Amino acid sequence: MRSPAEYFTGTATAHSWAPGRVNLLGEHTDYNDGFMLPIATPQRTDVMLGPSDDGRFHLYSATLDERCDFAPHDRAPPGFGRYIEGCIRLLEQRGVTVPPLRIYVHSNLALGTGLSSSAALEVATLRALNELLKLNLDGVSIARIAQQAEIQYAGVNCGIMDQMAASLADSEHMLFLDARSLDTRLLPLPANTEVLVVDSGVARTLAASKYNERRAECEQAAHMLGVPSLRDVTRLEDVEALPSPLRERARHVVTENMRVMEACGEISAGRFGQLMNESHASLRDDYEVSIAALDTLTEALRAHPAVLGARLTGAGFGGACVALCRHGLADDAGQFAVQRVNAAGGSASVLIPPPRTKRGTI
Ligand code: GLA
Repeated sequence: MRSPAEYFTGTATAHSWAPGRVNLLGEHTDYNDGFMLPIATPQRTDVMLGPSDDGRFHLYSATLDERCDFAPHDRAPPGFGRYIEGCIRLLEQRGVTVPPLRIYVHSNLALGTGLSSSAALEVATLRALNELLKLNLDGVSIARIAQQAEIQYAGVNCGIMDQMAASLADSEHMLFLDARSLDTRLLPLPANTEVLVVDSGVARTLAASKYNERRAECEQAAHMLGVPSLRDVTRLEDVEALPSPLRERARHVVTENMRVMEACGEISAGRFGQLMNESHASLRDDYEVSIAALDTLTEALRAHPAVLGARLTGAGFGGACVALCRHGLADDAGQFAVQRVNAAGGSASVLIPPPRTKRGTI
């Protein structure tokens, strides 16, 4: 692994970073124009830029110890470079001239666990380019461009939650996000609580194909109900006439939006936890994006007295679970759940709070 000083033979010209995200409530609602409550991870991705002296883009990921390079009019090879190339191309499409650069990436976000390391990379890259080229892009514009980089260049037909969270959230507040208007509001966590995230150790295998299938089902349900998107369904009775499985998919989205709206009000930490548990049940039974390892992990988390609620977070089909814990006890609860799951043959690990030895390493 090379250091930035070796890579740039001096110092970088621009340096930015962005966090990953954990979604506390409001899953699979963003592409239905709905509501969600993500929070930024303490882990982050750093991107540094400097001039290139041979007319090509040179990219280095210190985390992967991988490099790639490409000529200004060529495609980046598949891999981390595609996300960066996507950001560059989208700026070019807006009329920005991006000079050939040396780009250094470092991240302490675990890859493939559903903490949105790709959104962090896109947003950090765009922030660094924004700084270097003095583009005056605001946080929402950066999130929109980052989402397009993911869709058009990484081939993932995602909603906008991850990029909005990476661009606008912090790790102390929940970010209320309305995916239709892109209005945001930073809200405090429920009183005397903290966030715990545990990776199930199961990679998200079916995520891409099933994700697209769920999106299509939601669009079909909205079409049959005669509304632009499921966000516009406010009466639960309306979905009951739909054929299965559209009925269940729509019921998840409608009830999930209701849970987020309730969670934005003055509710107790205990009620917030219950809403998280209900969200998991809805994702498991109606939306069918959970797997046994996530169900087992949420149960292990709930078995600890400091856990107020637990659910899968992100797209599902593997990855991590999030729990809301009484303040000061997330470490204990995490160790407890990991031990329980792993004693039964699992391979879970705590992601947040980050392990002490790794805290603060960039
Ligand atoms: C993935 C997508 C998001 C969102 C979640 C599910 O993380 O990238 O846009 O749809 O799944 O809530």
